[in-house]
Amino acid sequence: MSKLKIINVVGARPNFMKIAPIVEEIRKYEGIEQFLLHTGQHYDHKMSDLFFNNLGLPKPDCYLGIGSGGHGTQTGKVMIEFEKVMLEEKPDIVLVVGDVNSTIACGLDAVKLGAKLVHVEAGLRSFDRTMPEEINRILTDQISDYLFLTEKSAFKNLENEGIDTAKAHFVGNVMIDSLLKHRKKAAEQKILQELELEPGNFALVTLHRPANVDDRAVCTTLMQTLCTISESLPVVFPVHPRTRKQMGVFGLDSLIAKHSNMRLVEPLGYLDFLQCMDNSKFVLTDSGGIQEETTVLGVPCITARENTERPITAEVGTNIIVGRDSQKLLAEANKILAGKGKKGEVPELWDGRAAERIVKILWENEGK
Ligand code: UD1
Repeated sequence: MSKLKIINVVGARPNFMKIAPIVEEIRKYEGIEQFLLHTGQHYDHKMSDLFFNNLGLPKPDCYLGIGSGGHGTQTGKVMIEFEKVMLEEKPDIVLVVGDVNSTIACGLDAVKLGAKLVHVEAGLRSFDRTMPEEINRILTDQISDYLFLTEKSAFKNLENEGIDTAKAHFVGNVMIDSLLKHRKKAAEQKILQELELEPGNFALVTLHRPANVDDRAVCTTLMQTLCTISESLPVVFPVHPRTRKQMGVFGLDSLIAKHSNMRLVEPLGYLDFLQCMDNSKFVLTDSGGIQEETTVLGVPCITARENTERPITAEVGTNIIVGRDSQKLLAEANKILAGKGKKGEVPELWDGRAAERIVKILWENEGK
């Protein structure tokens, strides 16, 4: 008897922790054959392999080795290479997660070659079309056959874009499946010791969005703000390669060097980062996923963006959307330091079982 064949796609760092619980869940189904494809959008050890190791992901069945490039180049290269894999492997289903360039590139190939497309983390909208991810989200949702939602607000977004919500299923959050599974193991890591950090007495920072790091004035102001915060407590800042490059271009390294409490480190692995998040006083970020993870951990999160595509984290979670205004960023940080940080709750269905729900729905509808 033939099996249901699914290609699971990953490309960039935020994809790995989303696919891991799905890969693990599919293993329980004898009738499903799975194939893991890595486009190679992210390729540095610390942006990719380390995550495979930390998350117990199997070695990809296929690695496209696409690498960095402009949006057109990167998306186009993935499409050209993934088409060949599609023709060779002939999957019934292609499953993509999140909103990176690899997500839309593989999605386009999949539907044009007759596979069903599954989008995990569908329906999120920042309503800011200058974000490359927003375009990737809108287009991927338009062509998907199954839309798996992390929060109910996404139903309305899909409906507003004329998408039949019968295709949409509210299942919870696979990123949180990974977090809950690995939280205990993360607690055993040694990164706090290595960085000489006291639990509950440091701020954790990540910044990598083009809108924050590609503009000289914005990037400089943000770094100055971090330096000011570091006068109150140590600031741990694992620096994304894009940000590292831009800081060099803008000559910001000397500013940072003057502040001994600024701890710039290489990008951390999944478990080390989770240990840092779980023990931080607060997190300051422009990431999407970290807004969700801090909400589940109950750690206050200051988001240095004008909007969020994950409104539930601000409505019920610990997230505060502050924008890029340094006064507002500092005011929120001081509020938290004064013990008046936002307390939140865990959103509905963020219970560690999203992957289970997703695979069940796929098997019930597509199983052979
Ligand atoms: C991508 C995603 C973004 C996600 C982020 C997480 C898109 C459009 N953006 O942004 O949604 O939040 O990943 O990290 O898909 N680089 C390295 N080593 C690597 C990867 C990248 O040095 O392993 C450097 C290169 O200089 C590259 C730059 O980082 O040009 C940006 O990489 P890219 O994949 O284009 O976008 P990200 O900013 O990482």
